[in-house]
Amino acid sequence: MSAPVARRRLRLGVNIDHVATVRNARGGAAPDLVRAAELAIAAGADGITAHLREDRRHVRDADLDGLTELTRRIDRPLNLEMAVTDEMVAIAIAHRPHAVCLVPERREERTTEGGLDVAGQHNWITPAVRRLREEGGSRVSLFIAADPTQVQASADAGAQVVELHTGAYCDALRQGSADAQSYLDHLQAAAAQATALGLEVHAGHGIDYDSVDPVALIPEVVELNIGHFLIGEAIFVGLENAIGRMRVLMDVARGVAL
Ligand code: PXP
Repeated sequence: MSAPVARRRLRLGVNIDHVATVRNARGGAAPDLVRAAELAIAAGADGITAHLREDRRHVRDADLDGLTELTRRIDRPLNLEMAVTDEMVAIAIAHRPHAVCLVPERREERTTEGGLDVAGQHNWITPAVRRLREEGGSRVSLFIAADPTQVQASADAGAQVVELHTGAYCDALRQGSADAQSYLDHLQAAAAQATALGLEVHAGHGIDYDSVDPVALIPEVVELNIGHFLIGEAIFVGLENAIGRMRVLMDVARGVAL
């Protein structure tokens, strides 16, 4: 029998950025982001995640207003992903989301490519963490690579949560690369280290139906944030079915009764 901690139900945060990507392709109001968020919750998501990028390439300020209103009304957590800039910190403090996940951001990247360099940028990150916690009342998460130096630096910076970047692992698994196991080993070690330091552990990036099981089996992980794959899969089976299946795979991995 697996250890009791592995039986804890995993939370699913559905990242709806790419509903906005489709909407923005035509510049109108459809598909509606708030409607997608409501459907995601109805399908088994525990919370909604959205990344307000500096260039507003998908989610926009008005979307954040709508998602804040919705998640307050239905009493579900909103997890705002954002860069560590004065502008974003001010926006987060004004909206007071349940959680803020600080991510690295480069304008030329297609998606968040690496983890935050907390160890190298702690002079900048630590005050932002403090303001988001104290002035915004948010739980602060740092999106980092599964690297012991970054885990320790995240605890030192005063974050309550780390989100481990699963992108390299998921890519390696998809490509059938022999490196996949070593990426998974690093994720497991980082999750154990973070928990020992008193940090809550989340994981996300690149997760699909094939990679969710090994990540969900890391006992210290309590939340997964999944976006692109689910929105893509929704084209074929609908958002409700796409999320519902992910929810089932997560529950089965954890041995939680369906
Ligand atoms: N977690 C974080 C911190 C992210 O930046 C992203 C991508 O926006 C995700 C999770 C979701 O990644 P994906 O869209 O690949 O599932």
